[in-house]
Amino acid sequence: MQVTININGEQVSRDIEPRMLLVHFIRETPGLTGTHWGCDTSNCGACVVLMDGKPVKSCTTLAAMVEGHEVRTVESLEVDGKLDPIQQGFHEKHALHCGFCTPGMLMTARALLDENPDPTDHEIRTAISGAICRCTGYLNIVRAVQWAAEHEAATKQEV
Ligand code: FES
Ligand code: FES
Repeated sequence: MQVTININGEQVSRDIEPRMLLVHFIRETPGLTGTHWGCDTSNCGACVVLMDGKPVKSCTTLAAMVEGHEVRTVESLEVDGKLDPIQQGFHEKHALHCGFCTPGMLMTARALLDENPDPTDHEIRTAISGAICRCTGYLNIVRAVQWAAEHEAATKQEV
C-alpha cells in the first residue's frame, strides 16, 4: 500500500506492507535514525515522536495509521545550527549519559512545554513517566526541562 506522511515538513511517500511500524518508516525511508527503536513493546519511550503535536510511541503505531498526518522527529529540533531550548537544557544540566533514551525524552519534553510552558516538577515527572532512562536517575532530566521552560519564558519576554 502507498503511504504518505509529512515528516518534519517534507512529504514522504513509500509503498509499504500494511504491518510496517512508524519507527521503521521514519528510520528507513527518509533515513532519520535519530528516533530510536528500543523495547518494541511500548515500554521504554525511546521511539517517541510527535504526531500532530502529540507524543506517540512509533514502535506501536502503524505507519498506515499516520497517512496524511504530520510527524515531528528529534531531527527537527535544531534549526540552522540553533538548538531547541530543550536540547540546550539537556546540555546545560547534563541530562544524558549514553543518550539512547534522549530522542524520546526530548520529544516528550517538547510536547509538554508546547502544551504547558510552566510545568511543575510533578507535571514534568508525569509527562516523562512513559520513558525509561537507565543512566541518569531522572533528576537532571527534570532540571533540564525546568531550565528549558525558564529559558523559553525569558526569551518570549524579550521579544
Ligand atoms: S521502542 Fe517504542 S516504547 Fe520502546
Ligand atoms: S541516558 Fe542512557 S538511557 Fe537515558
